[in-house]
Amino acid sequence: MKTAVRGDVLSFRGNPFREAERDCLAFQRDALVVMENGRIAACGPAVELLPTLPADLAVAHYPDHLILPGFIDCHVHYPQTEMMAAYGEQLLDWLHHYTFVTEQGFADEAHARDVARVFLDEQLRNGVTTACVFGTVHAASVDALFEAAAGHNLRILAGKVCMDRHAPPALLDTPLTAYEQSRALIQRWHGKGRAEYVITPRFAPTSSHGQLEMLGALAAEFPDVAIQSHISENLDEIAWVKQLFPGCRDYASVYQRYGLLRPRAVYGHGIHLSDEELQAFHDSGASLAHCPTSNFFLGSGCLNLRRCVEGERAIPVGLGTDLGAGTSFSMLQTMNAAYMAAQSHGKPLSAAQAFYLATRGGAEALGIADKVGSIAVGMEADLAVLNLRSTPLLDFRMRYARDLSEALFVQMMLGDDRAVAATYVAGSPVYRRATA
Ligand code: GUN
Ligand code: ZN
Repeated sequence: MKTAVRGDVLSFRGNPFREAERDCLAFQRDALVVMENGRIAACGPAVELLPTLPADLAVAHYPDHLILPGFIDCHVHYPQTEMMAAYGEQLLDWLHHYTFVTEQGFADEAHARDVARVFLDEQLRNGVTTACVFGTVHAASVDALFEAAAGHNLRILAGKVCMDRHAPPALLDTPLTAYEQSRALIQRWHGKGRAEYVITPRFAPTSSHGQLEMLGALAAEFPDVAIQSHISENLDEIAWVKQLFPGCRDYASVYQRYGLLRPRAVYGHGIHLSDEELQAFHDSGASLAHCPTSNFFLGSGCLNLRRCVEGERAIPVGLGTDLGAGTSFSMLQTMNAAYMAAQSHGKPLSAAQAFYLATRGGAEALGIADKVGSIAVGMEADLAVLNLRSTPLLDFRMRYARDLSEALFVQMMLGDDRAVAATYVAGSPVYRRATA
């Protein structure tokens, strides 16, 4: 099937943390993106490409909009959709009082299917076309998500949470069942359509030495499979890890010891990582998911993003909503929080840097930048179309935006789900915002 969209197109060909913005930004006014068989077949000036299209091909025209690569959420827990905005706790109490209660509900497969559907619909309303997702300890929770994602033909990464201690008995697996169920899920889903499996130890405190060893063995068996977990989010968590793993120098060394730091290993948070730990990330090729709304919500702290992405030991970083500790499905609102976090470290995040993190940067962090995250010929055709005047306030404010940088910055500060006019997945429109 062939489809086409017309409008201003923005994508990244480089990393604006490392190169001048003008060299990284690919901005085309009044361009046409032609999509065929799930991929981008052509992208260029509308006046040049329109005459080459079949006369009966309907072109969706988006004047006053911006066509972007679909957003990429590098760290999110779909089962926590129903417990977003849970009051009053920091990480470890929040996990026990809210998260571990909610996640027990996913023993019920029908419930998992319901939540998976709501979660993906909400992502599409927000222009998110790829995410790296935690299920619960129940293997069927991951089946439910992959099945729902296949219904939209989404490129999705997901895994069964593995934990065999320090959680309610109903949520515990064992070293062996974690290995066996994860392995069976890899065989069932990895590479099926656009699905990718992710090996998912929740975090070091909820996995025994034996379980981390088994997951390290699984990772070694499948060297191309991604890994996701959490690291260095909260000071009490870090102290606990020290106690639980006295033989390890620091938190990163725990994962390193079990072979879980490597390319395509994506760790949420990393707020309090030391220079040595960042160096270990750099040396191993592991990446971080910056989850600023969650970090503010749980009072975990503020990641110093520039310390991670600039300089000699830079590491790949993407953006994560980290629902349900995160407070919004919107990547625009997540960029807003990333800006606030950067300000608290004394240097702002530019709009180009923020949009890079939410698109190509996220794809780099997940190791899928050859497939998604950019608008270019041959890439998978996942797009988010932003209406730059989505609210009365934005309609007014945009009259005073003098250039692209200002327009982008205004969107990330004032925009939300209402700014997403349409979402395309593999060339097909899967969401269109109703107009009033
Ligand atoms: N650390 C371990 N599990 C979780 C979780 O579900 N959410 C967050 N924010 N941190 C975690
Ligand atoms: Zn998380």
